[in-house]
Amino acid sequence: MRRPMVAGNWKMHGTRASVAELINGLSHLALPSGVDVAVFPPFLHINQVIDGLKGKSISVGAQNSAVESMQGALTGEVAPSQLVDAGCTFVLVGHSERRQMGEQDGMLIRKFAAAQACGLIPVLCIGETLEQREAGKTLEVVGRQLGSIIEELGVGAFANAVIAYEPVWAIGTGLTASPQQAQDVHAAIRAQLAAENSEVAQGVRLLYGGSVKAANAVELFGMPDIDGGLIGGASLNADEFGAICRAAGN
Ligand code: 13P
Repeated sequence: MRRPMVAGNWKMHGTRASVAELINGLSHLALPSGVDVAVFPPFLHINQVIDGLKGKSISVGAQNSAVESMQGALTGEVAPSQLVDAGCTFVLVGHSERRQMGEQDGMLIRKFAAAQACGLIPVLCIGETLEQREAGKTLEVVGRQLGSIIEELGVGAFANAVIAYEPVWAIGTGLTASPQQAQDVHAAIRAQLAAENSEVAQGVRLLYGGSVKAANAVELFGMPDIDGGLIGGASLNADEFGAICRAAGN
């Protein structure tokens, strides 16, 4: 059985003071023991969060990392090896908000590989825009985003990775994919992996992201191929985030 995971992507939110408050709220949550919980603060706050959550069963990840594993002359970037040194476990790769700024499959393959090369677990984010969905191209788009990694790095790369399906039209809009819409895409993702290696396909965790809240989490996480969530806005409220984590433990 796949162990559910709930991840909070804080995006570009937080000050030292608000992060301290959020850490305090997270520290007091009663989290279900059967769920992996992780938070993804801005780079600036990673050290604060790792120190503040010491001894708690919440992992920390970064929202982005460099195309090269090791430190070097790359102004403004953060190397995966530096994230490992800081105590990170995960890193998001290819969030749609970064794809919209110009990150493309070729660069994401390098980021994914660089992260894995130093032991970080990549969380590959894939998803279609509203225009692509309305044109009936959802599975084609998601299939291409996933396929580019499989082709270059092999399906085995997903033995130690997480995939987040985040329809762009559901991110921060209050619109959520229905549990069935999300399940259909998750099943297609798993089938694409299974065509290469069924063991990898059965083991990989597929998270849904896009306006997940405590109020809709139980239904979404109840679908057979949805193994948890990648939460944006609702992860900035510790109590709401805790309720979503508990929904994954049901
Ligand atoms: P929201 O939960 O705010 O829609 O964001 C989802 C997301 O982009 C998580 O990475």
